[in-house]
Amino acid sequence: MAKLIMAASLALAVILSAGAGHAQPAQFTPGDETPEEFPAGVGRDDAFYACTACHNFKLVAQQGMTRLQWEDSLQWMIDRHKMSPLPEKDKKIVLDYLEATFPPRAPAPGRGWQNPFSPR
Ligand code: HEC
Repeated sequence: MAKLIMAASLALAVILSAGAGHAQPAQFTPGDETPEEFPAGVGRDDAFYACTACHNFKLVAQQGMTRLQWEDSLQWMIDRHKMSPLPEKDKKIVLDYLEATFPPRAPAPGRGWQNPFSPR
């Protein structure tokens, strides 16, 4: 009987350690997204592939910024996150797309910050 328990716990230990060996943090793989999921435009694919080297493009697409702010973000990726600078030509194409496709959004009525003193 003791032998059976030994064998059973040994098998369990093997299963657990095998499981642990395969446990990996959920990771983004570029295959999860395709450029076609995002609004069409000149430079879309360039922007998609430039940015998805590190993170998904939804992170980019959920922002709305002016060209200057996009340029700052790009610079921030380079300064803070070790992105390799884009060649000037590609940088223009990418910024053109980001500016045209993800401009600053006005808050929808009833959402976002509301001035409590403004007449309704
Ligand atoms: C070399 C890696 C790298 C590249 C390439 C890169 N980023 Fe990032 N980016 C990061 C990291 C790291 C973060 C912060 C971690 C996170 O939120 O996933 C981030 C976060 C962001 C954010 C979110 C900032 C916030 O306030 O939440 C934006 C917007 C962004 N990146 C834009 C871009 C754009 C646009 C491109 C392509 C033109 C790009 N990134 C390419 C590394 C990179």
